[in-house]
Amino acid sequence: MPIIYQQISELRAALQPHRTQQSIALVPTMGNLHDGHLELVNIAKQHADIVVVSIFVNPTQFGEGEDFDSYPRTLDADVTKLATVAADYVFAPSIEEMYPVLPPATAVLAGTISAQLCGQSRPGHFDGVGIVVSKLFNIIQPDAAVFGQKDYQQLAIIKQLVRDLSYPLEIIAAPIVRAADGLALSSRNQYLTASERQVAPVLHQALQGLAQQLQDIKIAPQGSILPHIAALLAQTREHLTNAGFTVDYLEVKTAELDAMTEDFDKDEQDMVILVAAWLGRARLLDNQLVTIK
Ligand code: PAF
Repeated sequence: MPIIYQQISELRAALQPHRTQQSIALVPTMGNLHDGHLELVNIAKQHADIVVVSIFVNPTQFGEGEDFDSYPRTLDADVTKLATVAADYVFAPSIEEMYPVLPPATAVLAGTISAQLCGQSRPGHFDGVGIVVSKLFNIIQPDAAVFGQKDYQQLAIIKQLVRDLSYPLEIIAAPIVRAADGLALSSRNQYLTASERQVAPVLHQALQGLAQQLQDIKIAPQGSILPHIAALLAQTREHLTNAGFTVDYLEVKTAELDAMTEDFDKDEQDMVILVAAWLGRARLLDNQLVTIK
């Protein structure tokens, strides 16, 4: 079983002896772990000797009216699952331990990438992610940290944070883990009713279809890809709406994690399609990489 710490000082003391000879990886989570999180731990173990999993439902990244109170908290079950993948330590602090003053007086601003997509629908969300992740990096001082690619924008923002604040660690991006029917695994999937769960895989299917259509676009000489993209996005939005989703956003961006713009000017372009859509009470996120030649 992993050893659980709730106090920063105790965790630091436990990690100290490892630092001379062993590398440490962090897997930050909000708990309610599923196979996607366990895969993050497996990946972390490939990169470091010791794996610390943090479990903390971070109040500063939830907006008013969001699901902070109802977010599932399942620490005992989480620790049992983490034993199956041989995680070494769990850090599960209280809110008071993480935030002696709440809201904290010091801010971490997530920068321009955060102004779009999820950041537009959830103002302040990525600043909250930024401060909690900074604190976790300072507390644990890992050599590497693993983040899931399902939260593509979050991953881009964390990479920026590491660059801008000179954290001496490697960020490892972990591929999306999906259910057999294609739905990206997420703790929030449990908000879906049985009938919504049947519909949910349509989201991934729609992104796959859109990726194929983007690859098939034929641009006239001197033409622009932008009107083609706009038309395909409109079609896909309509398809999702007809299937029962309320689309928050569906956009195509350049895939470079340090930019995420709509500056599609190269002959060969790596793009990412990003979607957030409500199905009942669940806000589902997904994305799909696509290369246009
Ligand atoms: O992706 C998440 O679960 C959270 O945003 C994170 C990175 C653990 C910060 O609270």
